[in-house]
Amino acid sequence: MLELPPLSLYVHIPWCVRKCPYCDFNSHQNTGVIPEQDYIEALIKDLNNDLPWVQNRKLHSIFFGGGTPSLFSANAIETVINEAQRCIGFQDNIEITLEANPGTSEQQKFSDFRAAGVNRLSIGVQSFDDNQLKALGRIHDGQQARRALDMAQSAGFERLNIDLMHGLPDQTTGQALADLDTAIDSGITHISWYQLTIEPNTEFFSRPPTLPVEDQLADIQQAGQTRLQEANFDQYEVSAFAMQGAVCAHNINYWQFGDYLGIGAGAHGKITSADKDQVIRTSKTRQPNHFMASASPMASKPIAANQLPLEFMMNGLRLRSGVSADFFPKRTGLSAQTISHQIKKLQSQGLLKNEESIYCTSDLGYRFLNSVLQGFS
Ligand SMILES: C[S@@+](CC[C@H](N)C(=O)[O-])C[C@H]1O[C@@H](n2cnc3c(N)ncnc32)[C@H](O)[C@@H]1O
Ligand code: SF4
Repeated sequence: MLELPPLSLYVHIPWCVRKCPYCDFNSHQNTGVIPEQDYIEALIKDLNNDLPWVQNRKLHSIFFGGGTPSLFSANAIETVINEAQRCIGFQDNIEITLEANPGTSEQQKFSDFRAAGVNRLSIGVQSFDDNQLKALGRIHDGQQARRALDMAQSAGFERLNIDLMHGLPDQTTGQALADLDTAIDSGITHISWYQLTIEPNTEFFSRPPTLPVEDQLADIQQAGQTRLQEANFDQYEVSAFAMQGAVCAHNINYWQFGDYLGIGAGAHGKITSADKDQVIRTSKTRQPNHFMASASPMASKPIAANQLPLEFMMNGLRLRSGVSADFFPKRTGLSAQTISHQIKKLQSQGLLKNEESIYCTSDLGYRFLNSVLQGFS
């Protein structure tokens, strides 16, 4: 029987100073003045259109992602936060994250974001190495990245994530570890450590750089995980490492198959409809101009019952400590019976732990997560 899980809010800001050659997110190079005022008005309209999905819940977390949300003024961000508080309401200790680019970081602006209610900053550092940053087409250098971290700390952000990528063009293990060491030494509490992937419809897809070979990638992965562990960063998800108490509540809600409203151009949402007994995916018009011009930019579609086990596991098994077995019936509406055969098989293959109350991969299963997930498709 479906139960309403915690509700988060994702807010998409679709512009960047420059489009990075590896990025397939819905982000558009800003070629003139960003229509901040019009976009904020469209976001507020979008949020109000989504209110029927709230179903008497208060918000657990908000995430301003992009694109580059730090291009927007703190006033604009505050307008959205206040409207969300007015029309939905906040749980105690709500986590409010904003993504910032070191190339658009200013001390005063960080302080203003903090005063506007943002209490967690996620900085897109990618690397501290100037040559790598150039190869990645970034607008910042290593010094600007270090300065952005200092500014965020001076502005009072205790919850601070940085995005780092590894497996960069011609990267050695030493270089990847040097990036991690700089991050660790800076005193931040959360690191998202992504392996660079080459995505269709990106510049790197048409003109691929020379990436490290498989063995080298595995070496970087292994050495990096060890280095992070030694520095007390716990790997709690495939790419997420946190000091004690510093995990990202917003992303954990995604991975535990919680609900989220997604507002803004191209934003996706996932909503449990207790009335209709359905789990629904929503999506908004992708092009910023179309999104702003459209009176109702939303499409929604229920997730088919036979897709739900895979969707649930694709999220839940990313968590290193797994996902509560109780959540499966409550958040998919299906009985545990539906997947008991697959669970037993994966347990007998040593890919899932033999636990009743939790679905959790073994060390082997975590390494071959895609094979584990095939068991549910
Ligand atoms: C939507 S971006 C937002 C961050 C911000 N726009 C920035 O880049 O400064 C989130 C993160 O995804 C990661 N990312 C984007 N494209 C990637 C790719 N092709 N492979 C691996 N990680 C990628 C980057 O670390 C990036 O910071
Ligand atoms: S700044 Fe971030 S969102 Fe924008 S293009 Fe680069 S990686 Fe993508």
